[in-house]
Formats: sequence, C-alpha cells, structure tokens
Amino acid sequence: MFITLEGPEGSGKTTAIKYAVSELKKRGYEIVETREPGGTSISEQIRNVILDKENKAMDPRTEALLYAASRRQHLVEKIWPALKEGKIVICDRYLDSSLAYQGVGRGIGTKNILNANLFATEDTWPDLTILFDIDPTVGMERIAANSNREVNRLDLEEMEFHKKVREAFLKLAKKYKKRYVVIDASKPLEEVEKEVLDIILKRL
Ligand code: TYD
Repeated sequence: MFITLEGPEGSGKTTAIKYAVSELKKRGYEIVETREPGGTSISEQIRNVILDKENKAMDPRTEALLYAASRRQHLVEKIWPALKEGKIVICDRYLDSSLAYQGVGRGIGTKNILNANLFATEDTWPDLTILFDIDPTVGMERIAANSNREVNRLDLEEMEFHKKVREAFLKLAKKYKKRYVVIDASKPLEEVEKEVLDIILKRL
C-alpha cells in the first residue's frame, strides 16, 4: 500500500503521522517512511538544489523537472522495491505537490506537470492520499512559531501563492475522490493523529 501525505506549508502532516506509524508498527505492519523531495542520497542532493534560498534565478519548469527527477530516483531506489516486498510506504508529499505547487502555484498548468510526471513515475499513483487542509495564514504562523523548522525557498513565496496551492489541493481531492481523504488540520494534534490512524486502518 502506497500512502501519501499532502497539504500546504505548516499543516503539521509530518508530526501528525508519527502516532499512526507507531501504532501500525505495534500491530506488526512493516512501514517505510520517506519524504519528497528526497528519500535517497541522489534525491536529497536534488532537494538541496531545489530548496536552496540562494537559487533565486531558478526557472519554474526547471524546478518542476527537478522535483520530477528527484521523484523518479526515489521510486526506483526506495518506493518500488518496498512495495514489491509488501511493505506499507508512507511518503510525505508526492506527485500532487507538483500539481498544486508547480502546476497551479507557479502557473505551469496541471496538464504540463502531469505529462512530465507520467514520464517520471510511469503512472505510479498512491492508493491513499491524506490531505491535511489548513488555511495558509494559520500554517505560516505555525512555521514562524516553530524554530526547529527550516525555512525554504518555497516558504518564502507570497501568501497569494500559498492560497492558490491550498485551493489546488482541495480541487485535486475532488478530482481524485477515490484515493483522497481530507482532514481539517487546524484541529488539535491529538484529534488529527487519531483521525489519520483511523483512515489508514480502514483502508488496510
Ligand atoms: P519541506 O521542508 O519538506 O516542506 P514540508 O514540511 O512543507 O513538506 O519542503 C518541501 C517543499 O517543496 C515544500 O515547500 C513543498 C515543495 N514541493 C513542491 O513545490 N513540489 C513538489 O513536487 C514537492 C514534492 C514539494
């Protein structure tokens, strides 16, 4: 089972998944936790190029292709082998982030992003996508309050950009109803954590 976590900045998805992972492990499931961009050495190197605050000259399509390249390497080295071994893969962001951030946020168009990503992923889609929905104003406040969280190039975008990204995710959730579940991520952490576990257990 391939599960992806999506949402705007500061939605708390990375923190909220921890509880579900530990509960699933207790129940004997083998879980591979990973993230995008990154997850393997080559993909993490690409991540550093994408998110470097100094790379102000980066062209939007270059950015989109780097995300897709990082994704491909991650699939080849980590996700496909784990799925083949029957493990549950939980990936913090995947293709939908490219559709929302590059397709809509950057205005490249979701069709263009989809095409690049079909090439990169050979049509590999998650079985379940959990969208941690939150007003980006609240999300950015959370990031500002969390001194451990590193601020990256995408975080530095205007609020309008993040609002577009949120709307894009909600639209994707409607379009891909079968694999999407939307959570209200503004709720207290304990509630969100339990909801995530419930959602995954139901799908298993
Ligand atoms: P990260 O620090 O992992 O952020 P978060 O905790 O919010 O997931 O940085 C990843 C950034 O890259 C984030 O701003 C979202 C962005 N992103 C894209 O723009 N396109 C993509 O395809 C992916 C995977 C991420």
